[in-house]
Amino acid sequence: MFLKNCWYVAAWDHELIDGRLLARTILEEPVLVFMGESGQPVALDNRCCHRGAPLSMGRREGDCVRCMYHGLKFDAAGKCIQIPGQDKIPAKLGVRSYPVALRNHLVWIWMGDPALADPAAIIDYPYLRDPAWKGVPDYMHYDANYLLIVDNLSDFAHLAFVHTNTLGGSEEYAYTTKPVAVERLPNGFRVERWHLDSAPPPFHAKVIRDKQAAVDRRNIGHMHLPGIFFLETLFAPAGGGAREGKLEGARQYRNCQFMTPETRRTTHFFWNYLNDFEGDDSTISRSLHASLIEGFMEDKALIEAQQKVLDDDPDFPMVAVTADAALTHFRRMLEQRIAEEQVGQTPLDTQAVRRQVA
Ligand code: FES
Ligand SMILES: [Fe+2]
Repeated sequence: MFLKNCWYVAAWDHELIDGRLLARTILEEPVLVFMGESGQPVALDNRCCHRGAPLSMGRREGDCVRCMYHGLKFDAAGKCIQIPGQDKIPAKLGVRSYPVALRNHLVWIWMGDPALADPAAIIDYPYLRDPAWKGVPDYMHYDANYLLIVDNLSDFAHLAFVHTNTLGGSEEYAYTTKPVAVERLPNGFRVERWHLDSAPPPFHAKVIRDKQAAVDRRNIGHMHLPGIFFLETLFAPAGGGAREGKLEGARQYRNCQFMTPETRRTTHFFWNYLNDFEGDDSTISRSLHASLIEGFMEDKALIEAQQKVLDDDPDFPMVAVTADAALTHFRRMLEQRIAEEQVGQTPLDTQAVRRQVA
Protein backbone atom coordinates (compact mmCIF):
# COMPACT_ATOMS: atom_id res chain seq x y z
CA MET A 1 0.00 0.00 0.00
CA PHE A 2 2.94 2.35 0.69
CA LEU A 3 6.14 2.86 -1.20
CA LYS A 4 8.76 1.69 1.28
CA ASN A 5 12.12 1.98 -0.42
CA CYS A 6 12.37 5.74 -0.38
CA TRP A 7 13.14 8.53 2.10
CA TYR A 8 10.31 10.11 4.07
CA VAL A 9 10.45 13.06 6.45
CA ALA A 10 10.06 11.84 10.05
CA ALA A 11 10.50 15.16 11.90
CA TRP A 12 11.87 18.68 11.82
CA ASP A 13 15.10 18.97 13.77
CA HIS A 14 13.53 21.59 16.09
CA GLU A 15 10.99 18.99 17.26
CA LEU A 16 13.86 17.02 18.78
CA ILE A 17 16.12 19.79 20.07
CA ASP A 18 15.07 19.32 23.69
CA GLY A 19 16.16 15.68 23.68
CA ARG A 20 12.61 14.39 23.59
CA LEU A 21 11.82 10.81 22.66
CA LEU A 22 9.27 11.38 19.93
CA ALA A 23 6.70 8.66 19.26
CA ARG A 24 5.58 8.90 15.66
CA THR A 25 3.70 6.33 13.63
CA ILE A 26 5.09 6.20 10.10
CA LEU A 27 3.63 3.98 7.37
CA GLU A 28 1.60 2.28 10.13
CA GLU A 29 4.73 1.33 12.08
CA PRO A 30 5.33 2.69 15.58
CA VAL A 31 8.65 4.54 15.51
CA LEU A 32 10.70 6.27 18.18
CA VAL A 33 12.69 9.22 16.82
CA PHE A 34 15.23 11.18 18.83
CA MET A 35 18.43 13.12 18.52
CA GLY A 36 21.31 11.36 20.21
CA GLU A 37 23.62 13.46 22.37
CA SER A 38 26.22 13.21 19.61
CA GLY A 39 23.79 15.16 17.37
CA GLN A 40 22.95 12.16 15.22
CA PRO A 41 19.28 11.24 14.77
CA VAL A 42 18.16 7.77 15.82
CA ALA A 43 15.01 5.88 14.82
CA LEU A 44 13.97 2.62 16.46
CA ASP A 45 10.92 0.42 16.70
CA ASN A 46 8.95 2.07 19.49
CA ARG A 47 8.22 -1.26 21.19
CA CYS A 48 10.65 -2.68 23.69
CA CYS A 49 11.47 -6.23 22.64
CA HIS A 50 11.00 -7.41 26.24
CA ARG A 51 7.35 -6.72 27.01
CA GLY A 52 6.41 -4.17 24.38
CA ALA A 53 6.55 -1.02 26.49
CA PRO A 54 6.93 2.10 24.29
CA LEU A 55 10.56 3.17 24.26
CA SER A 56 9.32 6.75 23.90
CA MET A 57 8.42 6.44 27.61
CA GLY A 58 12.04 5.56 28.29
CA ARG A 59 15.11 7.69 28.94
CA ARG A 60 17.76 8.93 26.54
CA GLU A 61 21.29 7.98 27.61
CA GLY A 62 23.86 9.36 25.18
CA ASP A 63 22.90 7.96 21.79
CA CYS A 64 21.09 5.08 23.50
CA VAL A 65 17.65 4.68 25.04
CA ARG A 66 16.73 2.82 28.20
CA CYS A 67 13.28 1.27 28.51
CA MET A 68 11.88 2.56 31.79
CA TYR A 69 9.85 -0.55 32.47
CA HIS A 70 12.53 -3.11 33.41
CA GLY A 71 15.56 -1.12 32.31
CA LEU A 72 16.78 -2.79 29.11
CA LYS A 73 19.11 -0.46 27.25
CA PHE A 74 19.38 -0.22 23.44
CA ASP A 75 22.04 1.45 21.35
CA ALA A 76 21.42 3.55 18.21
CA ALA A 77 21.44 0.40 16.07
CA GLY A 78 18.71 -1.10 18.26
CA LYS A 79 20.98 -3.69 19.86
CA CYS A 80 20.27 -4.49 23.49
CA ILE A 81 23.45 -3.64 25.41
CA GLN A 82 22.30 -3.98 29.01
CA ILE A 83 19.79 -6.02 31.00
CA PRO A 84 19.88 -4.96 34.64
CA GLY A 85 20.60 -7.97 36.86
CA GLN A 86 21.54 -10.27 33.96
CA ASP A 87 25.11 -10.84 32.82
CA LYS A 88 24.61 -12.53 29.48
CA ILE A 89 22.81 -10.67 26.71
CA PRO A 90 21.78 -12.75 23.71
CA ALA A 91 23.67 -11.42 20.69
CA LYS A 92 20.55 -10.97 18.59
CA LEU A 93 18.44 -9.30 21.25
CA GLY A 94 17.26 -5.87 20.24
CA VAL A 95 14.72 -3.79 18.37
CA ARG A 96 14.57 -2.84 14.71
CA SER A 97 16.43 0.32 13.78
CA TYR A 98 15.67 2.44 10.75
CA PRO A 99 18.20 4.26 8.58
CA VAL A 100 17.94 8.00 9.31
CA ALA A 101 19.73 11.13 8.10
CA LEU A 102 19.63 14.80 8.97
CA ARG A 103 19.42 17.12 5.93
CA ASN A 104 18.26 20.72 5.68
CA HIS A 105 16.79 20.68 9.22
CA LEU A 106 14.74 17.60 8.40
CA VAL A 107 15.13 14.12 9.85
CA TRP A 108 14.67 11.63 7.00
CA ILE A 109 13.77 7.99 7.54
CA TRP A 110 13.96 4.90 5.33
CA MET A 111 11.15 2.44 6.06
CA GLY A 112 12.13 -0.20 3.48
CA ASP A 113 15.07 -2.54 3.00
CA PRO A 114 17.98 -0.96 4.96
CA ALA A 115 20.49 -2.36 2.47
CA LEU A 116 19.03 -0.04 -0.18
CA ALA A 117 19.08 3.16 1.90
CA ASP A 118 21.39 5.68 0.26
CA PRO A 119 21.42 9.12 1.91
CA ALA A 120 22.71 10.58 -1.36
CA ALA A 121 19.22 9.94 -2.77
CA ILE A 122 17.58 12.36 -0.33
CA ILE A 123 16.02 15.18 -2.28
CA ASP A 124 17.77 18.50 -1.73
CA TYR A 125 15.97 21.77 -1.00
CA PRO A 126 18.78 24.29 -0.68
CA TYR A 127 16.47 27.17 0.37
CA LEU A 128 16.04 25.50 3.76
CA ARG A 129 19.69 26.05 4.58
CA ASP A 130 20.25 29.33 2.72
CA PRO A 131 20.24 32.26 5.18
CA ALA A 132 18.88 34.54 2.43
CA TRP A 133 15.56 32.66 2.62
CA LYS A 134 13.49 33.18 5.76
CA GLY A 135 10.55 31.17 7.04
CA VAL A 136 9.02 29.34 9.97
CA PRO A 137 9.14 25.54 9.69
CA ASP A 138 5.94 23.88 10.89
CA TYR A 139 3.94 20.67 11.14
CA MET A 140 0.27 19.78 10.72
CA HIS A 141 -1.58 16.53 11.24
CA TYR A 142 -4.18 15.44 8.70
CA ASP A 143 -7.05 12.99 9.11
CA ALA A 144 -6.78 12.03 5.46
CA ASN A 145 -4.76 9.79 3.17
CA TYR A 146 -1.67 11.62 1.97
CA LEU A 147 -2.57 11.16 -1.69
CA LEU A 148 -5.62 13.37 -1.24
CA ILE A 149 -3.18 16.13 -0.25
CA VAL A 150 -1.01 15.35 -3.27
CA ASP A 151 -4.13 15.61 -5.45
CA ASN A 152 -4.97 18.97 -3.90
CA LEU A 153 -1.52 20.37 -4.66
CA SER A 154 -1.50 19.19 -8.24
CA ASP A 155 -4.16 21.63 -9.43
CA PHE A 156 -3.74 25.33 -8.63
CA ALA A 157 -7.34 25.95 -9.74
CA HIS A 158 -8.34 25.07 -6.18
CA LEU A 159 -6.68 28.32 -5.04
CA ALA A 160 -9.59 30.15 -6.61
CA PHE A 161 -12.32 28.34 -4.69
CA VAL A 162 -10.81 26.97 -1.50
CA HIS A 163 -8.61 30.00 -0.87
CA THR A 164 -10.56 32.86 -2.45
CA ASN A 165 -9.93 35.26 0.43
CA THR A 166 -6.52 34.02 1.57
CA LEU A 167 -3.99 32.48 -0.81
CA GLY A 168 -5.94 32.69 -4.05
CA GLY A 169 -7.37 36.16 -4.23
CA SER A 170 -10.20 35.63 -6.70
CA GLU A 171 -12.31 32.99 -8.37
CA GLU A 172 -11.18 34.55 -11.62
CA TYR A 173 -7.86 32.70 -11.15
CA ALA A 174 -9.52 29.41 -12.10
CA TYR A 175 -11.26 30.80 -15.17
CA THR A 176 -8.67 33.07 -16.73
CA THR A 177 -5.49 31.11 -16.07
CA LYS A 178 -4.45 27.71 -17.28
CA PRO A 179 -1.31 25.71 -16.67
CA VAL A 180 1.12 26.77 -19.40
CA ALA A 181 2.84 23.45 -18.95
CA VAL A 182 2.21 20.13 -17.24
CA GLU A 183 5.32 18.01 -17.51
CA ARG A 184 5.18 14.36 -16.61
CA LEU A 185 8.51 13.43 -15.05
CA PRO A 186 9.81 9.97 -14.15
CA ASN A 187 9.61 10.89 -10.46
CA GLY A 188 6.65 13.23 -10.43
CA PHE A 189 5.45 16.25 -12.38
CA ARG A 190 6.00 19.96 -12.92
CA VAL A 191 3.21 22.46 -13.45
CA GLU A 192 3.53 26.12 -14.30
CA ARG A 193 0.78 28.73 -14.22
CA TRP A 194 0.74 32.49 -14.82
CA HIS A 195 -1.86 34.98 -13.76
CA LEU A 196 -1.23 38.35 -15.36
CA ASP A 197 -2.27 41.82 -14.29
CA SER A 198 -4.34 41.07 -11.21
CA ALA A 199 -4.61 42.37 -7.66
CA PRO A 200 -2.14 40.80 -5.24
CA PRO A 201 -3.80 38.00 -3.20
CA PRO A 202 -4.42 38.81 0.49
CA PHE A 203 -1.46 36.87 1.96
CA HIS A 204 0.97 38.74 -0.29
CA ALA A 205 -0.75 42.12 0.01
CA LYS A 206 -0.29 41.96 3.79
CA VAL A 207 3.50 41.97 3.55
CA ILE A 208 4.11 44.53 0.78
CA ARG A 209 3.87 48.32 0.83
CA ASP A 210 1.86 48.97 -2.30
CA LYS A 211 -1.21 46.83 -1.68
CA GLN A 212 -3.14 47.99 -4.74
CA ALA A 213 -0.57 47.73 -7.52
CA ALA A 214 -1.39 44.98 -10.00
CA VAL A 215 0.99 42.04 -10.26
CA ASP A 216 1.96 39.28 -12.65
CA ARG A 217 1.97 36.05 -10.71
CA ARG A 218 3.73 32.86 -11.57
CA ASN A 219 3.47 29.53 -9.75
CA ILE A 220 5.73 26.60 -10.58
CA GLY A 221 4.93 23.43 -8.68
CA HIS A 222 7.07 20.31 -8.55
CA MET A 223 5.75 17.09 -7.08
CA HIS A 224 8.17 14.28 -6.33
CA LEU A 225 7.70 10.72 -5.14
CA PRO A 226 6.70 9.67 -2.53
CA GLY A 227 4.85 12.95 -1.75
CA ILE A 228 7.11 15.98 -1.72
CA PHE A 229 5.96 19.27 -3.14
CA PHE A 230 8.00 22.35 -3.98
CA LEU A 231 6.34 25.57 -5.08
CA GLU A 232 8.13 28.57 -6.53
CA THR A 233 6.00 31.68 -6.49
CA LEU A 234 6.85 34.98 -8.08
CA PHE A 235 5.02 38.30 -7.98
CA ALA A 236 6.32 40.94 -10.36
CA PRO A 237 4.97 44.41 -11.23
CA ALA A 238 2.26 43.89 -13.86
CA GLY A 239 3.45 44.44 -17.40
CA GLY A 240 7.11 44.63 -16.37
CA GLY A 241 8.08 41.70 -18.58
CA ALA A 242 8.42 39.01 -15.92
CA ARG A 243 7.43 36.37 -18.45
CA GLU A 244 10.39 37.41 -20.55
CA GLY A 245 12.64 37.10 -17.52
CA LYS A 246 12.65 40.74 -16.37
CA LEU A 247 12.40 40.33 -12.63
CA GLU A 248 13.04 43.86 -11.39
CA GLY A 249 10.87 44.60 -8.37
CA ALA A 250 9.79 40.96 -8.10
CA ARG A 251 9.01 39.27 -4.81
CA GLN A 252 9.64 35.56 -4.53
CA TYR A 253 8.55 32.72 -2.31
CA ARG A 254 9.71 29.14 -1.93
CA ASN A 255 7.33 26.67 -0.36
CA CYS A 256 8.09 23.06 0.52
CA GLN A 257 5.61 20.47 1.74
CA PHE A 258 6.51 16.96 2.79
CA MET A 259 3.69 14.44 3.13
CA THR A 260 4.49 11.33 5.15
CA PRO A 261 1.77 8.71 5.63
CA GLU A 262 1.06 8.04 9.28
CA THR A 263 -1.59 5.46 8.44
CA ARG A 264 -3.59 4.78 5.30
CA ARG A 265 -5.99 7.54 6.37
CA THR A 266 -3.82 9.98 8.32
CA THR A 267 -0.82 12.06 7.33
CA HIS A 268 2.11 13.98 8.78
CA PHE A 269 2.45 17.26 6.92
CA PHE A 270 5.73 19.20 7.24
CA TRP A 271 6.05 22.56 5.56
CA ASN A 272 7.82 25.89 5.33
CA TYR A 273 7.06 29.06 3.37
CA LEU A 274 10.19 31.04 2.67
CA ASN A 275 10.71 34.54 1.33
CA ASP A 276 13.89 36.22 0.15
CA PHE A 277 12.98 39.86 0.77
CA GLU A 278 12.32 40.41 4.46
CA GLY A 279 15.92 41.13 5.40
CA ASP A 280 15.86 41.76 9.16
CA ASP A 281 12.10 42.23 9.31
CA SER A 282 10.89 38.93 10.73
CA THR A 283 7.32 40.26 10.93
CA ILE A 284 7.09 39.33 7.24
CA SER A 285 7.79 35.61 7.71
CA ARG A 286 5.53 35.61 10.76
CA SER A 287 2.69 37.16 8.79
CA LEU A 288 3.23 34.69 5.93
CA HIS A 289 3.31 31.80 8.40
CA ALA A 290 -0.04 32.89 9.85
CA SER A 291 -1.55 33.37 6.37
CA LEU A 292 -0.38 29.97 5.24
CA ILE A 293 -1.85 28.26 8.30
CA GLU A 294 -5.13 30.01 7.54
CA GLY A 295 -4.93 28.70 3.96
CA PHE A 296 -3.86 25.19 4.95
CA MET A 297 -6.78 24.96 7.39
CA GLU A 298 -9.06 25.62 4.42
CA ASP A 299 -7.45 22.71 2.55
CA LYS A 300 -7.56 20.52 5.65
CA ALA A 301 -11.29 21.09 6.25
CA LEU A 302 -12.08 20.20 2.67
CA ILE A 303 -9.73 17.22 2.33
CA GLU A 304 -10.71 15.67 5.68
CA ALA A 305 -14.38 15.98 4.69
CA GLN A 306 -13.53 14.38 1.35
CA GLN A 307 -11.82 11.51 3.21
CA LYS A 308 -15.03 10.91 5.18
CA VAL A 309 -17.05 10.76 1.97
CA LEU A 310 -14.64 8.18 0.57
CA ASP A 311 -14.66 6.20 3.83
CA ASP A 312 -18.43 5.99 3.64
CA ASP A 313 -18.27 4.66 0.10
CA PRO A 314 -14.82 3.37 -0.86
CA ASP A 315 -16.10 2.48 -4.31
CA PHE A 316 -17.23 6.02 -5.06
CA PRO A 317 -16.28 6.52 -8.71
CA MET A 318 -14.38 9.77 -9.29
CA VAL A 319 -14.28 11.25 -12.77
CA ALA A 320 -11.21 12.89 -14.25
CA VAL A 321 -11.22 16.30 -15.93
CA THR A 322 -8.43 17.70 -18.09
CA ALA A 323 -6.84 19.44 -15.12
CA ASP A 324 -6.29 16.06 -13.44
CA ALA A 325 -3.53 15.06 -15.85
CA ALA A 326 -0.81 15.68 -13.26
CA LEU A 327 -2.46 13.83 -10.40
CA THR A 328 -3.41 10.90 -12.64
CA HIS A 329 0.18 10.62 -13.78
CA PHE A 330 1.44 10.72 -10.19
CA ARG A 331 -0.91 8.01 -8.97
CA ARG A 332 -0.12 5.77 -11.91
CA MET A 333 3.61 6.18 -11.36
CA LEU A 334 3.31 5.49 -7.65
CA GLU A 335 1.23 2.37 -8.21
CA GLN A 336 3.81 1.12 -10.64
CA ARG A 337 6.68 1.75 -8.23
CA ILE A 338 4.83 0.00 -5.41
CA ALA A 339 4.12 -2.97 -7.66
CA GLU A 340 7.79 -3.15 -8.68
CA GLU A 341 8.87 -2.97 -5.09
CA GLN A 342 6.61 -5.83 -4.12
CA VAL A 343 8.01 -7.85 -6.97
CA GLY A 344 11.49 -7.20 -5.62
CA GLN A 345 10.49 -8.84 -2.36
CA THR A 346 9.41 -12.09 -3.97
CA PRO A 347 11.30 -14.36 -6.37
CA LEU A 348 9.07 -13.47 -9.31
CA ASP A 349 10.04 -12.56 -12.84
CA THR A 350 10.21 -8.74 -12.67
CA GLN A 351 9.65 -8.25 -16.37
CA ALA A 352 6.55 -10.42 -16.34
CA VAL A 353 4.98 -8.47 -13.49
CA ARG A 354 6.02 -5.16 -15.09
CA ARG A 355 4.09 -6.21 -18.15
CA GLN A 356 1.14 -7.15 -15.98
CA VAL A 357 1.19 -3.76 -14.21
CA ALA A 358 1.44 -1.91 -17.50
S1 FES B 1 9.27 -3.90 28.67
FE1 FES B 1 11.09 -2.86 28.31
S2 FES B 1 12.43 -3.58 29.82
FE2 FES B 1 10.62 -4.73 30.13
FE1 LIG C 1 -4.54 24.70 -0.96
